[in-house]
Amino acid sequence: MTQSVVIDELMTLVDPGKVLTDPASLDAYGKDWTKHYPPAPSAIVFPKTIDQVQAIVRWANRHKVALVPSGGRTGLSGAAVAAHGEVVVAFDYMNQILAFNEFDRTVVCQPGVVTRQLQQFAEDQGLYYPVDFASSGSSQIGGNIGTNAGGIKVIRYGMTRNWVAGLKVVTGKGELLELNKDLIKNATGYDLRQLFIGAEGTLGFVVEATMRLDRAPRNLTAMVLGTPDFDAIMPVLHAFQGKLDLTAFEFFSDKGLARILARGDVPAPFGTDCPFYALLEFEASTEEVANEALATFEHCVEQGWVLDGVMSQSDTQLKNLWKLREYLSETISHWTPYKNDISVTVSKVPAFLRDIDAIVGEHYPDYEVVWYGHIGDGNLHLNILKPDHMSKDDFFASCAKVNKWVFEIVERYSGSISAEHGVGMTKRDYLGYSRSPEEIACMKAIKAVFDPNGIMNPGKIFAPE
Ligand code: MLT
Ligand code: ZN
Repeated sequence: MTQSVVIDELMTLVDPGKVLTDPASLDAYGKDWTKHYPPAPSAIVFPKTIDQVQAIVRWANRHKVALVPSGGRTGLSGAAVAAHGEVVVAFDYMNQILAFNEFDRTVVCQPGVVTRQLQQFAEDQGLYYPVDFASSGSSQIGGNIGTNAGGIKVIRYGMTRNWVAGLKVVTGKGELLELNKDLIKNATGYDLRQLFIGAEGTLGFVVEATMRLDRAPRNLTAMVLGTPDFDAIMPVLHAFQGKLDLTAFEFFSDKGLARILARGDVPAPFGTDCPFYALLEFEASTEEVANEALATFEHCVEQGWVLDGVMSQSDTQLKNLWKLREYLSETISHWTPYKNDISVTVSKVPAFLRDIDAIVGEHYPDYEVVWYGHIGDGNLHLNILKPDHMSKDDFFASCAKVNKWVFEIVERYSGSISAEHGVGMTKRDYLGYSRSPEEIACMKAIKAVFDPNGIMNPGKIFAPE
């Protein structure tokens, strides 16, 4: 069969007009935020029902066509890139909240529900969906599950995995599986739901997800604290964790702050220049909690760990302080950053960062390095900015050379080469720094069970063989 006949057959499986092959759509739906890989899908298909997703997967098996799932395409690892003639399955038309159970505090979502839509829905019920990150306005729940998205509240609420009560998935064979049936307790053998979370669409597609909600936080309050060096951040974290239940503990460097302030639309937190800043958040549910926070702040100043600080007094101030951290990714994207998303256990962070910083300083003396991240959970984002005079290809080639040394340090500290952005195409060649050969063999065997023909997002997580 010719390719056009195969695509004609695909068109009969979905609603009229729901297969696109025009160049603009191929370009838009063939990539995520990584933008290193020229998109080259052969078509984009938009299913509206689970039956249609099953029909698409069966069609792909018949014709040995590779499928790439597409949500909000905000990923940073190339997991939603179609660079080799794949068909992109976009979930934009499966975007409804189907049910809410007040008693169980659960929401049944189609995969194309946007994260903010779920957050807003929860808020409207007086509840809270706590997984949050800068791209929550466009990322979709299916993609969040595919990458086990983390973000800024992990220290308190954990990753997306913690909030998935049940899943319906279409496997690479086209079978529909209903996983865990939204139960809290279920000791009936392997929890297949967990396998599909973070699988980047390599085992099957999430076609429905029951997400848990939490009680709404009370009077969220943020502090931004300037520290004299990176090492001072850890005792600050320790001091605050000893006194308060933190909902976030983030950090960023002076270089990151400078880029944010240069935008002109975010107020500076305070006048003192500091090399590093911590942003912490807690529920100031009573006056005693707020006083405890202030007393801890004073203790940190006395110890010399904090040079200056500010505490939000209103919702507007809270939002403005968060902009200092939340706007970083988008702001530096202008300089085509080479991104690393690495993690270690929290106690190892200072020594780990020092070792990585030394390697980066030695090999990239002329590049601007912007550090930020979710220090409270051990996740550091190392962003190397492209000098204006350098071509993208030369810049990425030179950064890739240093990967080996960075990942050797990650391995030495028993860390992760991808804390929350996923493996996708950008990290697949380095998987062995975080997972043993035996583990990788098990992972491949699991893939073969759910996707025997290797049509589900091939070339992601594992390098092509
Ligand atoms: C963040 O923490 O801002 C996101 O993970 C995105 C990024 O690392 O740039
Ligand atoms: Zn992050």
